[in-house]
Amino acid sequence: MDNNITVPKKTIFSGVQPSGNLTIGNYLGAIKNWTTLQNEYNCIYCVVDMHAITVRQVPADLRRRTYETLAIYIAAGLDPEKNTLFVQSHVPQHAVLAWDLGCFTMFGELSRMTQFKDKSRSNADNINSGLFTYPVLMAADILLYKTDLVPVGSDQKQHLELARDIAIRFNSIFSDTFTIPEGYIPKTGMRIMSLADPTKKMSKSDANPNASIGILDSKDDIIRKFKRAVTDSDTTIRYADGKDGINNLMNIYSCFTGKTYGEIEKEFDGRGYGDFKLAVGETVADSLSPLKTKFDTLMKDKAYLEDIMKNGAFSASRIAERTVSKVHKKLGFVVKS
Ligand code: TYM
Repeated sequence: MDNNITVPKKTIFSGVQPSGNLTIGNYLGAIKNWTTLQNEYNCIYCVVDMHAITVRQVPADLRRRTYETLAIYIAAGLDPEKNTLFVQSHVPQHAVLAWDLGCFTMFGELSRMTQFKDKSRSNADNINSGLFTYPVLMAADILLYKTDLVPVGSDQKQHLELARDIAIRFNSIFSDTFTIPEGYIPKTGMRIMSLADPTKKMSKSDANPNASIGILDSKDDIIRKFKRAVTDSDTTIRYADGKDGINNLMNIYSCFTGKTYGEIEKEFDGRGYGDFKLAVGETVADSLSPLKTKFDTLMKDKAYLEDIMKNGAFSASRIAERTVSKVHKKLGFVVKS
């Protein structure tokens, strides 16, 4: 038997929008899991700046956050030597394929997207067509790279299913072209809730600064926000229906410590919410502290970050160009001579 046969690594693609201060929701639902996949998979992680402009951005903030998001990827443990890290707008094939795929996506499908409905409500004065076709661009991101797995939080499940449907539709019309991607959604951490309203997802675009914990928040801020977290009038720390606030804190604590809910209940048996909130705050702040230190160092070296962006875009473009030219041939476009 030939032991030298190597099975090609599966490909992973994911991204975060540089549209606000990244939260522990982004960290626990996505980035933290990415770091555990880098040895086994061919990983491509993007800073999706083109998605961010579906909502008005201050240009200087968007630019700064694009650097910051890349620095967070690296500070969280993504090795730029092992992963392809790049900025979406540096690879124009994302926009090109999005146009092509848009012609295979139905108006009705896009109208059903819950994120579109939510964002239309919160940005009623700017319901632009980019907000509507956002999931098509996301499908292009994924399908450009023959992606097998997409590690995301549960809020992206609907978009991912649409990407699969578009790929299946295209393949059935034009023969096998795209790999059909699967979601990779963590059991714990897939949906971190707001501290101000634990029935709502924690979001980097929440106007209330006390609703979310930023990955880069100071220790004092983290502890203060956890102390103010909305809970309930019960006094025991246990995971149960109707205890959304406590369930969320237990989920966060479990993600950072690896402890099960049973172990957490035992640890805080006979102790009050105040003690528990303080413990969660200290644990989160201490766990994020090394990331923050590394982030500060990286942000002092813009040239290094730009080098990574450049190399990442170069590698990503090579794959993306091949996919687009294959798609264009199948569509019947004349190949440029
Ligand atoms: P974005 O920028 O809103 O969020 C980035 C990642 O963080 C996850 N996430 C959460 N997970 C758990 N709890 C939360 N409260 C929470 N909030 C956010 C998201 O699920 C996501 O994984 N459309 C995407 C970005 C994107 C993308 C892609 C992702 C564009 N193209 C292609 C994967 C593949 C988005 O808006 O993520």
